[in-house]
Amino acid sequence: MSRIISGIQPSGKLHIGNYFGMMKPAIEMQKKNEAFLFIADYHALTSVQDPKLLKSLIKDAVLDFLACGIDPDSTCLYRQSDVPQVHELSWFLSVLTPMGLLERCHSYKDKIAKGLDSTHGLFSYPILMAADILSIEASIVPVGKDQKQHVEVTRDLAAKFNNVFGEVFQLPNPLIKDHLATIPGIDGQKMSKSYNNTIEIFESEKILKKKIMKIITDSKNLEDQKDPDSCNIFSLFKLFANETEQKELAEIYQAGGMGYGFAKNELLTKISQYFEPIRERRIALEKEDDYIEDILKNGGQKASLIAKNILNNVKDAIGL
Ligand code: ADP
Ligand code: TRP
Repeated sequence: MSRIISGIQPSGKLHIGNYFGMMKPAIEMQKKNEAFLFIADYHALTSVQDPKLLKSLIKDAVLDFLACGIDPDSTCLYRQSDVPQVHELSWFLSVLTPMGLLERCHSYKDKIAKGLDSTHGLFSYPILMAADILSIEASIVPVGKDQKQHVEVTRDLAAKFNNVFGEVFQLPNPLIKDHLATIPGIDGQKMSKSYNNTIEIFESEKILKKKIMKIITDSKNLEDQKDPDSCNIFSLFKLFANETEQKELAEIYQAGGMGYGFAKNELLTKISQYFEPIRERRIALEKEDDYIEDILKNGGQKASLIAKNILNNVKDAIGL
């Protein structure tokens, strides 16, 4: 049994890139592993600085996870801010972090290029993420491809710490499912809350349809043969369809005579059907504020206890 950890920022409504890239793998792994999953609210402050909005996004993220299948009896679900020990550990890692290591991080560079403010918090984000992982002593980190580099930074920092102060940390490994590595948004770039190109898990039927109809395609004519493998609609369809359904739609693409509107409608039907039962569960959970708070409190206590122990080892090693 391995200890796994993943986190998600409550910086916007969760989308199908989050679902297939991180949530579903974490849900599938929870039964056979010791699972930890947290709402990265400290991290979200790099982009959300409206207290009311932050509170409601945290609640939304918890509801999304529970509705999608996180079982609080199998997974320790918590808020990052209920484990303040990560900040102390973050500092101990900071003093060992070369600037160049952070300067090379793609996620930081991408976010700046997209217009996010270049703050110290955004720059040092990977150190806090390393502290999240190392404070729980997790060995596996299920994430999408965009987070792979951050897990590598975590390994570098853990190895450096061990080198300088003696063996305290084990090095974690990312778990990335290749075919789910980067799910495209409606504009064909990586789907991301920061890029305004998402399809949310709990989108209303009307907005879902509107977004699907906006998915960018090439400009081939109706009668032309089309290539499913380079088409954003087909990439998304594959997430929801079985092999026979994928093969059937691929053949329709290749035969010619299909407009992209047809493929978009097929995708719309699949997404609606897939999320229908999850949607119902979420509605039932929305009124259960006390139940949700209890889950988070218990999760926070458990995670914080583990983090305290690790921090004691770290302090011993450092000489504090
Ligand atoms: P966002 O980019 O929307 O802000 P996060 O950075 O909060 O998403 O990512 C949360 C988790 O979901 C991470 O493990 C991330 O790798 C995964 N993820 C996000 N977007 C995608 C995507 N388009 N494809 C695959 N995984 C993704
Ligand atoms: N950086 C991750 C993201 O943006 C969220 C995150 C924070 C995380 N700490 C983590 C993921 C620790 C895995 C493990 O998606």
